Amino acid sequence: MVNKKQKFAGLIWMFALLSVAFASAAPAAQPAPRSNGLAQTPPVGWSSWNNFGDDINEQIVIETIDAMIANGMRDAGYVFVNLDDGWQRYKGARRDHPLEFDPKKFPRGISYLADYAHQRGMKLGIYSGPGQTTCAGYTGSEGHEAEDARMFANWGVDHLKYDSCCSHREAPKEELQKIFRTMSNALMTQKHGIVLHACHCGWGDIWEWAAGLGVNHWRIGQDISDDFNYPGNREQYYFDVLDQLDRGVGLEKYAGPGHWNDYDMLIVGLDGQSKQLVGTGASNIEYRTHFSLWAMVSSPMLVGADVRKLDQYSLETLTNKEIVALNQDPAGNIAHKVRDDGDLEVFARELADGSHAVLLLNRGAATATMTFSPRADLQAPMDRYSIRDLWKHRDLGTYDIPFTTEVQSHEARVFRIRQLATSANGRSVSDAAEQELAR
Ligand code: GAL
Repeated sequence: MVNKKQKFAGLIWMFALLSVAFASAAPAAQPAPRSNGLAQTPPVGWSSWNNFGDDINEQIVIETIDAMIANGMRDAGYVFVNLDDGWQRYKGARRDHPLEFDPKKFPRGISYLADYAHQRGMKLGIYSGPGQTTCAGYTGSEGHEAEDARMFANWGVDHLKYDSCCSHREAPKEELQKIFRTMSNALMTQKHGIVLHACHCGWGDIWEWAAGLGVNHWRIGQDISDDFNYPGNREQYYFDVLDQLDRGVGLEKYAGPGHWNDYDMLIVGLDGQSKQLVGTGASNIEYRTHFSLWAMVSSPMLVGADVRKLDQYSLETLTNKEIVALNQDPAGNIAHKVRDDGDLEVFARELADGSHAVLLLNRGAATATMTFSPRADLQAPMDRYSIRDLWKHRDLGTYDIPFTTEVQSHEARVFRIRQLATSANGRSVSDAAEQELAR
């Protein structure tokens, strides 16, 4: 005979067994995606690392801000001024040292620089990492994430590069997700918004999961070197411009407003002269191509060169507002490679106003003739379209046939094309409007 008590116990057991079976069959609960609402367009500005390494100080930052205002960079959209590794007072493990700014390098502290930037319509960035030490051996944030996030916010810092590629190089994905989630959550509890860059050198398929943690951008590859196309990887590690570009093909879908694939800092203007970064430099045309490509794929664009000493050509490259506008287009569509004919490639993206940006890239050693067809390359039935050359700043006219032009070795030509409606009599509406005006 089974009494009431035994029956009840049996039921409880059955219930427990069923819930265990159900729990193991059900997919593990994923935390809800988070967003801090920041970086709706990619961060654009300057970063100290690629030219100065850890040899940075208050004077360099102030002179950099002043130079960016005087040379037109700020007005072209370069508002972030980011301190990379080396602002910290101590080298060595966090368990042995607090995280403080180095008073010799930054006598008036970080908040002084944040105020200096804010008063001039700019933003200040800072650097740390999830380990005991950072990549350059300074104290990291491990175990002190909430405290550090509070300190950065109190200083008025607007951007954090949180770098795990040295401390967590081989870490499994779960651990990577944990460290970035911890810092992202700590930043999101601050009133002052801080853009989060998860720097992990493009390992651990970071593009697949970082946005869900509230990360605003993540590196897709190893550090860039100051090279356009170095054979192989310099020092078996560095990526050049074309390596980064190729790495991004297929990753477009992971990026969009608030969360961007980061192709690493701009090398324009380094000219092989960097105190920090390896590489022999690139030609003017190659630097311009690199800049155009980063704009097309909406990578963050942080200039690595010493902006106090930019030559005229580099400055003209960086301050081409029509190219910066592609990077900052509010739709945040990432350019796709729409054609690949060996050395000749075509990239295109649709912009918020319905026009398209088209980039013709010649990776080869000789000048080539390239043709672009909206029907074939964009699958867009544009029977008539207008073309504007974004480097020559010139409207090239109205076309109803594929567009053909010359592209020099390692050059990228960038165009904005706009569909023109066709009226009943076959004339384009804009032609008709122009004739109206002419009369
Ligand atoms: C590297 C990172 C560089 C720079 C450096 C600082 O890991 O890729 O961009 O931040 O650390 O130590």
